[in-house]
Amino acid sequence: MGRPIRFLLDGEVRELADADPTLTVLNLLRYDLRRTGSKEGCAEGDCGACTVVLGELADGKVAFRAVNACLLFAPMLDGRALFTVESLKRPDGALHPVQQAVVACHASQCGFCTPGFVMSLYAHQRSGAATDSATLKDALAGNLCRCTGYGPILAAGQAMGGDPEAAETGALAAALLGLRRAESLEVEHRGRRFLAPRTAADFAAAVERNPDAVILAGGTDVGLWVTKQHRDLAVVISLNEAEELRRIDDQADAIRVGAGVRYADAHAALADLHPEFGDLLRRLGGLQVRNLGTICGNIANGSPIGDMPPALIAAGATLVLRRGEERRTLPLEAYFLAYGKQDRRPGEFVEAVVVPRIPAARVFRAYKLSKRFDQDISAVCAGVSISVEAGRVTEARIAFGGMATTPRRAAACEAALTGQPWSEAAVRAAAEALAEDFQPIDDLRASAAYRLQAAGNLLIRAWLESGPGAPLRVLEAEAVAHG
Ligand code: FAD
Ligand code: FES
Ligand code: FES
Repeated sequence: MGRPIRFLLDGEVRELADADPTLTVLNLLRYDLRRTGSKEGCAEGDCGACTVVLGELADGKVAFRAVNACLLFAPMLDGRALFTVESLKRPDGALHPVQQAVVACHASQCGFCTPGFVMSLYAHQRSGAATDSATLKDALAGNLCRCTGYGPILAAGQAMGGDPEAAETGALAAALLGLRRAESLEVEHRGRRFLAPRTAADFAAAVERNPDAVILAGGTDVGLWVTKQHRDLAVVISLNEAEELRRIDDQADAIRVGAGVRYADAHAALADLHPEFGDLLRRLGGLQVRNLGTICGNIANGSPIGDMPPALIAAGATLVLRRGEERRTLPLEAYFLAYGKQDRRPGEFVEAVVVPRIPAARVFRAYKLSKRFDQDISAVCAGVSISVEAGRVTEARIAFGGMATTPRRAAACEAALTGQPWSEAAVRAAAEALAEDFQPIDDLRASAAYRLQAAGNLLIRAWLESGPGAPLRVLEAEAVAHG
């Protein structure tokens, strides 16, 4: 049985005893609580029809985050406030300002996606985020409307006004503080267990004791194992309640991003290291995915097409692995051994990734090529980091995703460039050398020939954007100047 899951719903504490640990919040809402406003479109985080909002304490304040209920397991609600589209209902039957704006702007057609859009707008309103078109587009990129009614939806976002419940946020923070548990959450149901230790040491000990358990971070992969692959997860250990793992620590020459740090929380710190990281992260999934998934999860899963590893490898990031109280570090690229095989020992987990500060003089670029600009998996990702002294390349760190069975450095390409003048001719020769480094595959995202050509072109683009005179930057500036 374990302990009941406790969360706030419409201001009331709800307790779930004997819950299945991998019951999704969407199924909990629709089948158990009969709140059917949240819809199931895809059950894999893509469409946003299931969007709900979580309120959680961060530094004493309540952070409101739009998340996909189809990816969230019920125990992940523990200690949080849940808002669904039904939460917007007013006792006098009046519409919530977000709903009013949607109606007034004619922002609903078939309506299936509408509850999800309303909840993304609600999270946006409660967070006090800006309502300019670019910020709203970012907030809504994880919601799909097949009727393509985006214009009126954006207009609704601009018309909805400020948070009408702002005055109640203090009381919500106090209620959430009251829900904080001193002990770890343990849920047990028909032989399935879910553990959420409260400290990093307890988490490390639990993983060491249960080397076959599934480690759960944001669940943006693990959720799909349940909803799409129908896998039975016997023991799940969540790292989300261990506060130390959710920290970003500033070090003299680097930042250390803990295992529990989500994409959305890492955005500012990584963009501060280099704006290229910021642009890359903005295109990783939709906001709902970035509010759940973690940087370390994107590394730990060993995917050959994860967005973060190529740029982090190029930046010279190192990984901190921990088993019990033992730690070891390794260069990020050394973690990826083969397809589906990483240098992670039984009972060990990724505790953090350490990303060095990037000297201003270094050429640093991160690229993602995908069929759709927003919310799409990459065909090719590239990280390029070049040090140049007296016109010559002294160090080249060039890494790609989507080109091999793991994210990998391009050794022949790097060797072809190192010691050469930082010139277009040398860069083109290095791009040719990529054929020695990679024999990519054909798949639904791109052909092998496209991948190889695109990888070389990205390297050339890095030169065009940053070489002497930066010809591409000049062209872009001219295009902007001439409208
Ligand atoms: P989880 O799902 O919790 O875990 C992923 C795997 O890593 C599991 O095997 C887990 O056991 C393991 N794991 C997690 N953390 C640790 C740790 N600290 N130590 C050891 N093992 C660990 N990815 C992209 O790169 N680009 C995209 O554009 C993108 N778009 C997406 C869109 C959608 C709709 C969805 C659902 C996913 C998308 N993803 C994308 C994939 C996803 O965000 C990543 O794969 C990410 O790895 C998952 O991180 P997480 O924290 O959610 O990990
Ligand atoms: Fe499509 Fe959840 S049902 S994102
Ligand atoms: Fe039809 Fe959105 S209004 S899918």
